[in-house]
Amino acid sequence: MVRTVLAINGSTRASSSNGHYLHAIERLVGDRAAFVRSPSISDLPHFSPDLDHEDPPASVVHFRQLVLASDVVLICTPEYAMGVVGSLKNALDWLVSSSTLSGKPVMLVTASLNGEKGHAALLETLTVIEALLRPETNVLIPFAKTKVTSDGVITDDPALQAIQNALDVLLAGR
Ligand SMILES: Cc1cc2nc3c(=O)[nH]c(=O)nc-3n(C[C@H](O)[C@H](O)[C@H](O)COP(=O)(O)O)c2cc1C
Repeated sequence: MVRTVLAINGSTRASSSNGHYLHAIERLVGDRAAFVRSPSISDLPHFSPDLDHEDPPASVVHFRQLVLASDVVLICTPEYAMGVVGSLKNALDWLVSSSTLSGKPVMLVTASLNGEKGHAALLETLTVIEALLRPETNVLIPFAKTKVTSDGVITDDPALQAIQNALDVLLAGR
């Protein structure tokens, strides 16, 4: 049973369109699960194996605890320079040694101008760190800014349907 969804925004921009999508998704989840927003990934220090010991930085401890306590992790992110946003890759690097994402269902929404390459690269990273991925819960939304309003309404039918379907699959725990 899915009780808690942890939402991570791959964009650190104040009026991020990925933030608008998260807002929309929070509403679509409704009372089916608690929707917890991760602190900005910009709070995490640059990953270094030298810092990744038994006493890691407090922001890392908190981030790992939030992931562990969630039943589903939702990542909503743009693509930068045909790849994964650096801050998001940094956040995921902090989860590698602790295996925090291992076996955890992850829904990936890439909401970007194009997004194809970043989406594919992120799926590779998530696969290697053993996140539980399903084709129905990976959603790529090109021209994303034009398909969501700043108050969190998805105005594009195919995008809305893909997200609704992903949530139905995830929240049913099928
Ligand atoms: C440094 C930078 C590089 C970008 N590179 C890409 C790219 O390669 N592909 C793409 O689809 N969008 C790219 N974009 C555009 C973003 O997709 C777009 O700005 C998106 O709205 C950012 O998400 P946000 O609104 O949540 O911050 C880039 C934007 C920035 C700032």
